[in-house]
Amino acid sequence: MKIFGRHFDVHRRNQTALDCSPTAILHFDRSMRAVYANAEARRLLRRLSGESSDIRPTEDQSLAELMETSTLGPVLDSKLQMGPSRSWSVDVECQGRILDLRVTPLRTERGAAMGFHVQIADATEKRVRECHVQQLQAAMDGVTTNIIIVDDDLHITYVNRATVHTLNEHIGDLRKFYPDLDPSALVGRSIDDFHQNPDHQRRLLKNRSIFPYETTLQLGPL
Ligand code: HEM
Repeated sequence: MKIFGRHFDVHRRNQTALDCSPTAILHFDRSMRAVYANAEARRLLRRLSGESSDIRPTEDQSLAELMETSTLGPVLDSKLQMGPSRSWSVDVECQGRILDLRVTPLRTERGAAMGFHVQIADATEKRVRECHVQQLQAAMDGVTTNIIIVDDDLHITYVNRATVHTLNEHIGDLRKFYPDLDPSALVGRSIDDFHQNPDHQRRLLKNRSIFPYETTLQLGPL
């Protein structure tokens, strides 16, 4: 494909942006042949073929060769054969690493299939952390103590089963104060929604030196 004039500038700009991207990016043509890998993708492919990724990847190292030697090649090939028309993502295991693949089909202006844009992130540590969080949450779901976890912005990120149970037990009384309270849909809500003067709670909770903090609250008859 020949690219002229202004289109060439745009093409070169896009190419430079992709080359500088910290994300591994690969492009495949319609017949699933790898036609482009940015510097990060080349580094990743080298790592997955057991070579040191510190060696500066050279442009002249054939992409086909890199795909062949890295164990990612066949994995990607089988995933792309599925060829769905919309973007999709999948985790694949490769050389003991968990890779998060995000695949976007590339199309011409007229909608004809051109190939695929594939973004690859090494998600190993992230998935291990997520697994630990799930294990912790499963443990907290098994206890009878009421537990709510919030993020730094005081949005609820987790509510254990005991809390949902307790709130449901008193839902009649609670709805007098919080008409829209749904104990099963607390995740994502701000704790400000439940406080008369949210600044008071925010001031208290900002001061980490008070923890562990204990208090007794009166809410109507509860
Ligand atoms: C369903 C969830 C919640 C409900 C219904 C609720 C309700 C209340 C009520 C009624 C009060 C008494 C004073 C006021 O209304 O402002 C209060 C105080 C307070 N709440 Fe909550 N709250 C909830 C969640 C949370 C969470 C998740 C946190 C902490 C992360 C929190 C922290 C506090 C603090 C620090 C106070 C002030 C205590 C004091 O002055 O000693 N609340 N809450």
